[in-house]
Amino acid sequence: MLDNYGRSISYIRMSVTDRCNLRCRYCMPESGIKKLEHSKILSFEDIIAIAEAVSDLGISKIRLTGGEPLVRTKITALVECLAAVKGIEEVTLTTNGTLFARMARALHAGGLKRVNFSLDSLVQEKYSFITRGGSLQDAWKGILAAMEIGMHPVKVNVVIIKGFNDDEILDFAELAYKFPLQIRFIEFMPVGDLLFWDQSKVISIREVKSIITKQYNLLHTAQVGNGPAEQFSLEGGQGGIGFISPLSNHFCAKCNRIRLTAEGKLRTCLYDHHETDLKSVLLQGINRAELAQMIAQAIIRKPERHYMNGGWGANNNRKMYQIGG
Ligand code: 5AD
Ligand code: SF4
Repeated sequence: MLDNYGRSISYIRMSVTDRCNLRCRYCMPESGIKKLEHSKILSFEDIIAIAEAVSDLGISKIRLTGGEPLVRTKITALVECLAAVKGIEEVTLTTNGTLFARMARALHAGGLKRVNFSLDSLVQEKYSFITRGGSLQDAWKGILAAMEIGMHPVKVNVVIIKGFNDDEILDFAELAYKFPLQIRFIEFMPVGDLLFWDQSKVISIREVKSIITKQYNLLHTAQVGNGPAEQFSLEGGQGGIGFISPLSNHFCAKCNRIRLTAEGKLRTCLYDHHETDLKSVLLQGINRAELAQMIAQAIIRKPERHYMNGGWGANNNRKMYQIGG
């Protein structure tokens, strides 16, 4: 369906848990988070009911996020149910990858189309630092598994942080040269655990691009879907590069998505604190048509754009692991 600004909304990101097996510095506090009670998070029935309702509104693509979606029990069964919903053409997920390798075949057989991995360093000590203890080898095994199965294109999200991984920009580009991977550089945003964020750690995509183009020839490729990344292939290489610049060049005019938190709150914009509580109406036994109607009302009110450059905002009390990135 179209929102008030004529944008076609075709994509929902669903956070299936706010838990994670890692503790990335920009995302979660070291102590972890207060776990939501089981009864507070959406059940599989709830998630499927929401998928059915949004499919009635023309949404055809679902991405499961977290926290870490693979820590949710029976996630494979959920993928299977969602992939079977009429009108849902694509179920994908975003993961840190460390648990992916062992689940890859079952997820793929269950209908998982593609995976985006989050990987901010190619050096074990640095990876362990930023994730507070994660294993780079496990994450890489996950990425290899996705490539082996042929979940094409396999995307890797790299949040570029000055003084941390800006010296690895060319190493990541080399990865896209050697492997059929789509490496996506993301500007470090003032969201999540703000204790780690600092303006001085932000590097603009323009700078990242200029470093890469000194070494590689970037060829513009047609935009696939309506995602936020500006996409390129590397001349002579296997994979490609994407640039996501939420700060320096916001892409709100093309935004095609809505988001669902693990607790069942619908957010039509990552940066807008307004939420529609779907969990409570599901508890009251709302029917499919009414639920679709309620979601449609929220979509119509989707804000025109974000104002993140003015700050994440004190009123924005939700963290990235809750909204799902
Ligand atoms: N800035 C940029 N990207 C972020 N992500 C999480 N927090 C931030 C942030 N503050 C990324 C994750 C993941 C994607 C969904 O969002 O690394 O790859
Ligand atoms: Fe976990 Fe992803 Fe947050 Fe890292 S960024 S702590 S992997 S949810």
